[in-house]
Amino acid sequence: MNVVVVYAHPYDGSFCKGLLDTVVSRLESRGATVKVKDLVKMNFDPVMRPDDLAATKTKVYSDEVKQEQADVLWSDAIVTIAPVWFAAMPGFLKAYFDKVFITGFAYDHTGVGKLQGKRVFSLFTNGVNDPYLEMTGQYDAIHLVMDSLFGMTGFVDVATKFFASVPVVSDEVRKQYLEEATQFVDQIFDRQPGEIGQKGHSALLTRLVVKGCLNGAV
Ligand SMILES: Cc1cc2nc3c(=O)[nH]c(=O)nc-3n(C[C@H](O)[C@H](O)[C@H](O)COP(=O)(O)O)c2cc1C
Repeated sequence: MNVVVVYAHPYDGSFCKGLLDTVVSRLESRGATVKVKDLVKMNFDPVMRPDDLAATKTKVYSDEVKQEQADVLWSDAIVTIAPVWFAAMPGFLKAYFDKVFITGFAYDHTGVGKLQGKRVFSLFTNGVNDPYLEMTGQYDAIHLVMDSLFGMTGFVDVATKFFASVPVVSDEVRKQYLEEATQFVDQIFDRQPGEIGQKGHSALLTRLVVKGCLNGAV
């Protein structure tokens, strides 16, 4: 089992770093080969430059993007680990996917993703509590983006886990969170591809594309 872990946090004292260490150690103990992409430490360039966007047509990618695309193709599953910032994944994580999963590489106008059969398991830390996240639509906001990004590109499982109130919970709850993170990534080994599925946003989008409702806009 080949797993790419995309890690988006600048600070080694963060809870996300605890999640990273726990998850990588668990994946390896279950026999996976893991490549960690620490976006800050590798200084991944988050800016979409003219040549990066022209690649939708030219298919000429920067060396950095080419390397990431090769690792995505190598992977059976992707794990992402990041905080929620302003109801979204951090901009530099989104930028990674904008550039690496660009039109022509990860999907095209047919509505059939080009990364068929892959799986994604995302872990997000939150500063606020669960009722707030539910009532303000923050969970929905993230699910919509994850389904669009990974569903449209052919992933069969789009699994997302949130850890609420991280800065204020007790050490006991943090330990429990790490245990839950372990169980979450165990699904990569213990559940069949496609068993988890996704929320349905991208399934709807794909149907609309196939019906021509989007006029080839994707
Ligand atoms: C710029 C910024 C925006 C944030 N926006 C949100 C938010 O919209 N929702 C939320 O639950 N927490 C938000 N937070 C709090 C972080 O998500 C929280 O501190 C973090 O997940 C804690 O985990 P960490 O120790 O891994 O950083 C924000 C933090 C920052 C720095």
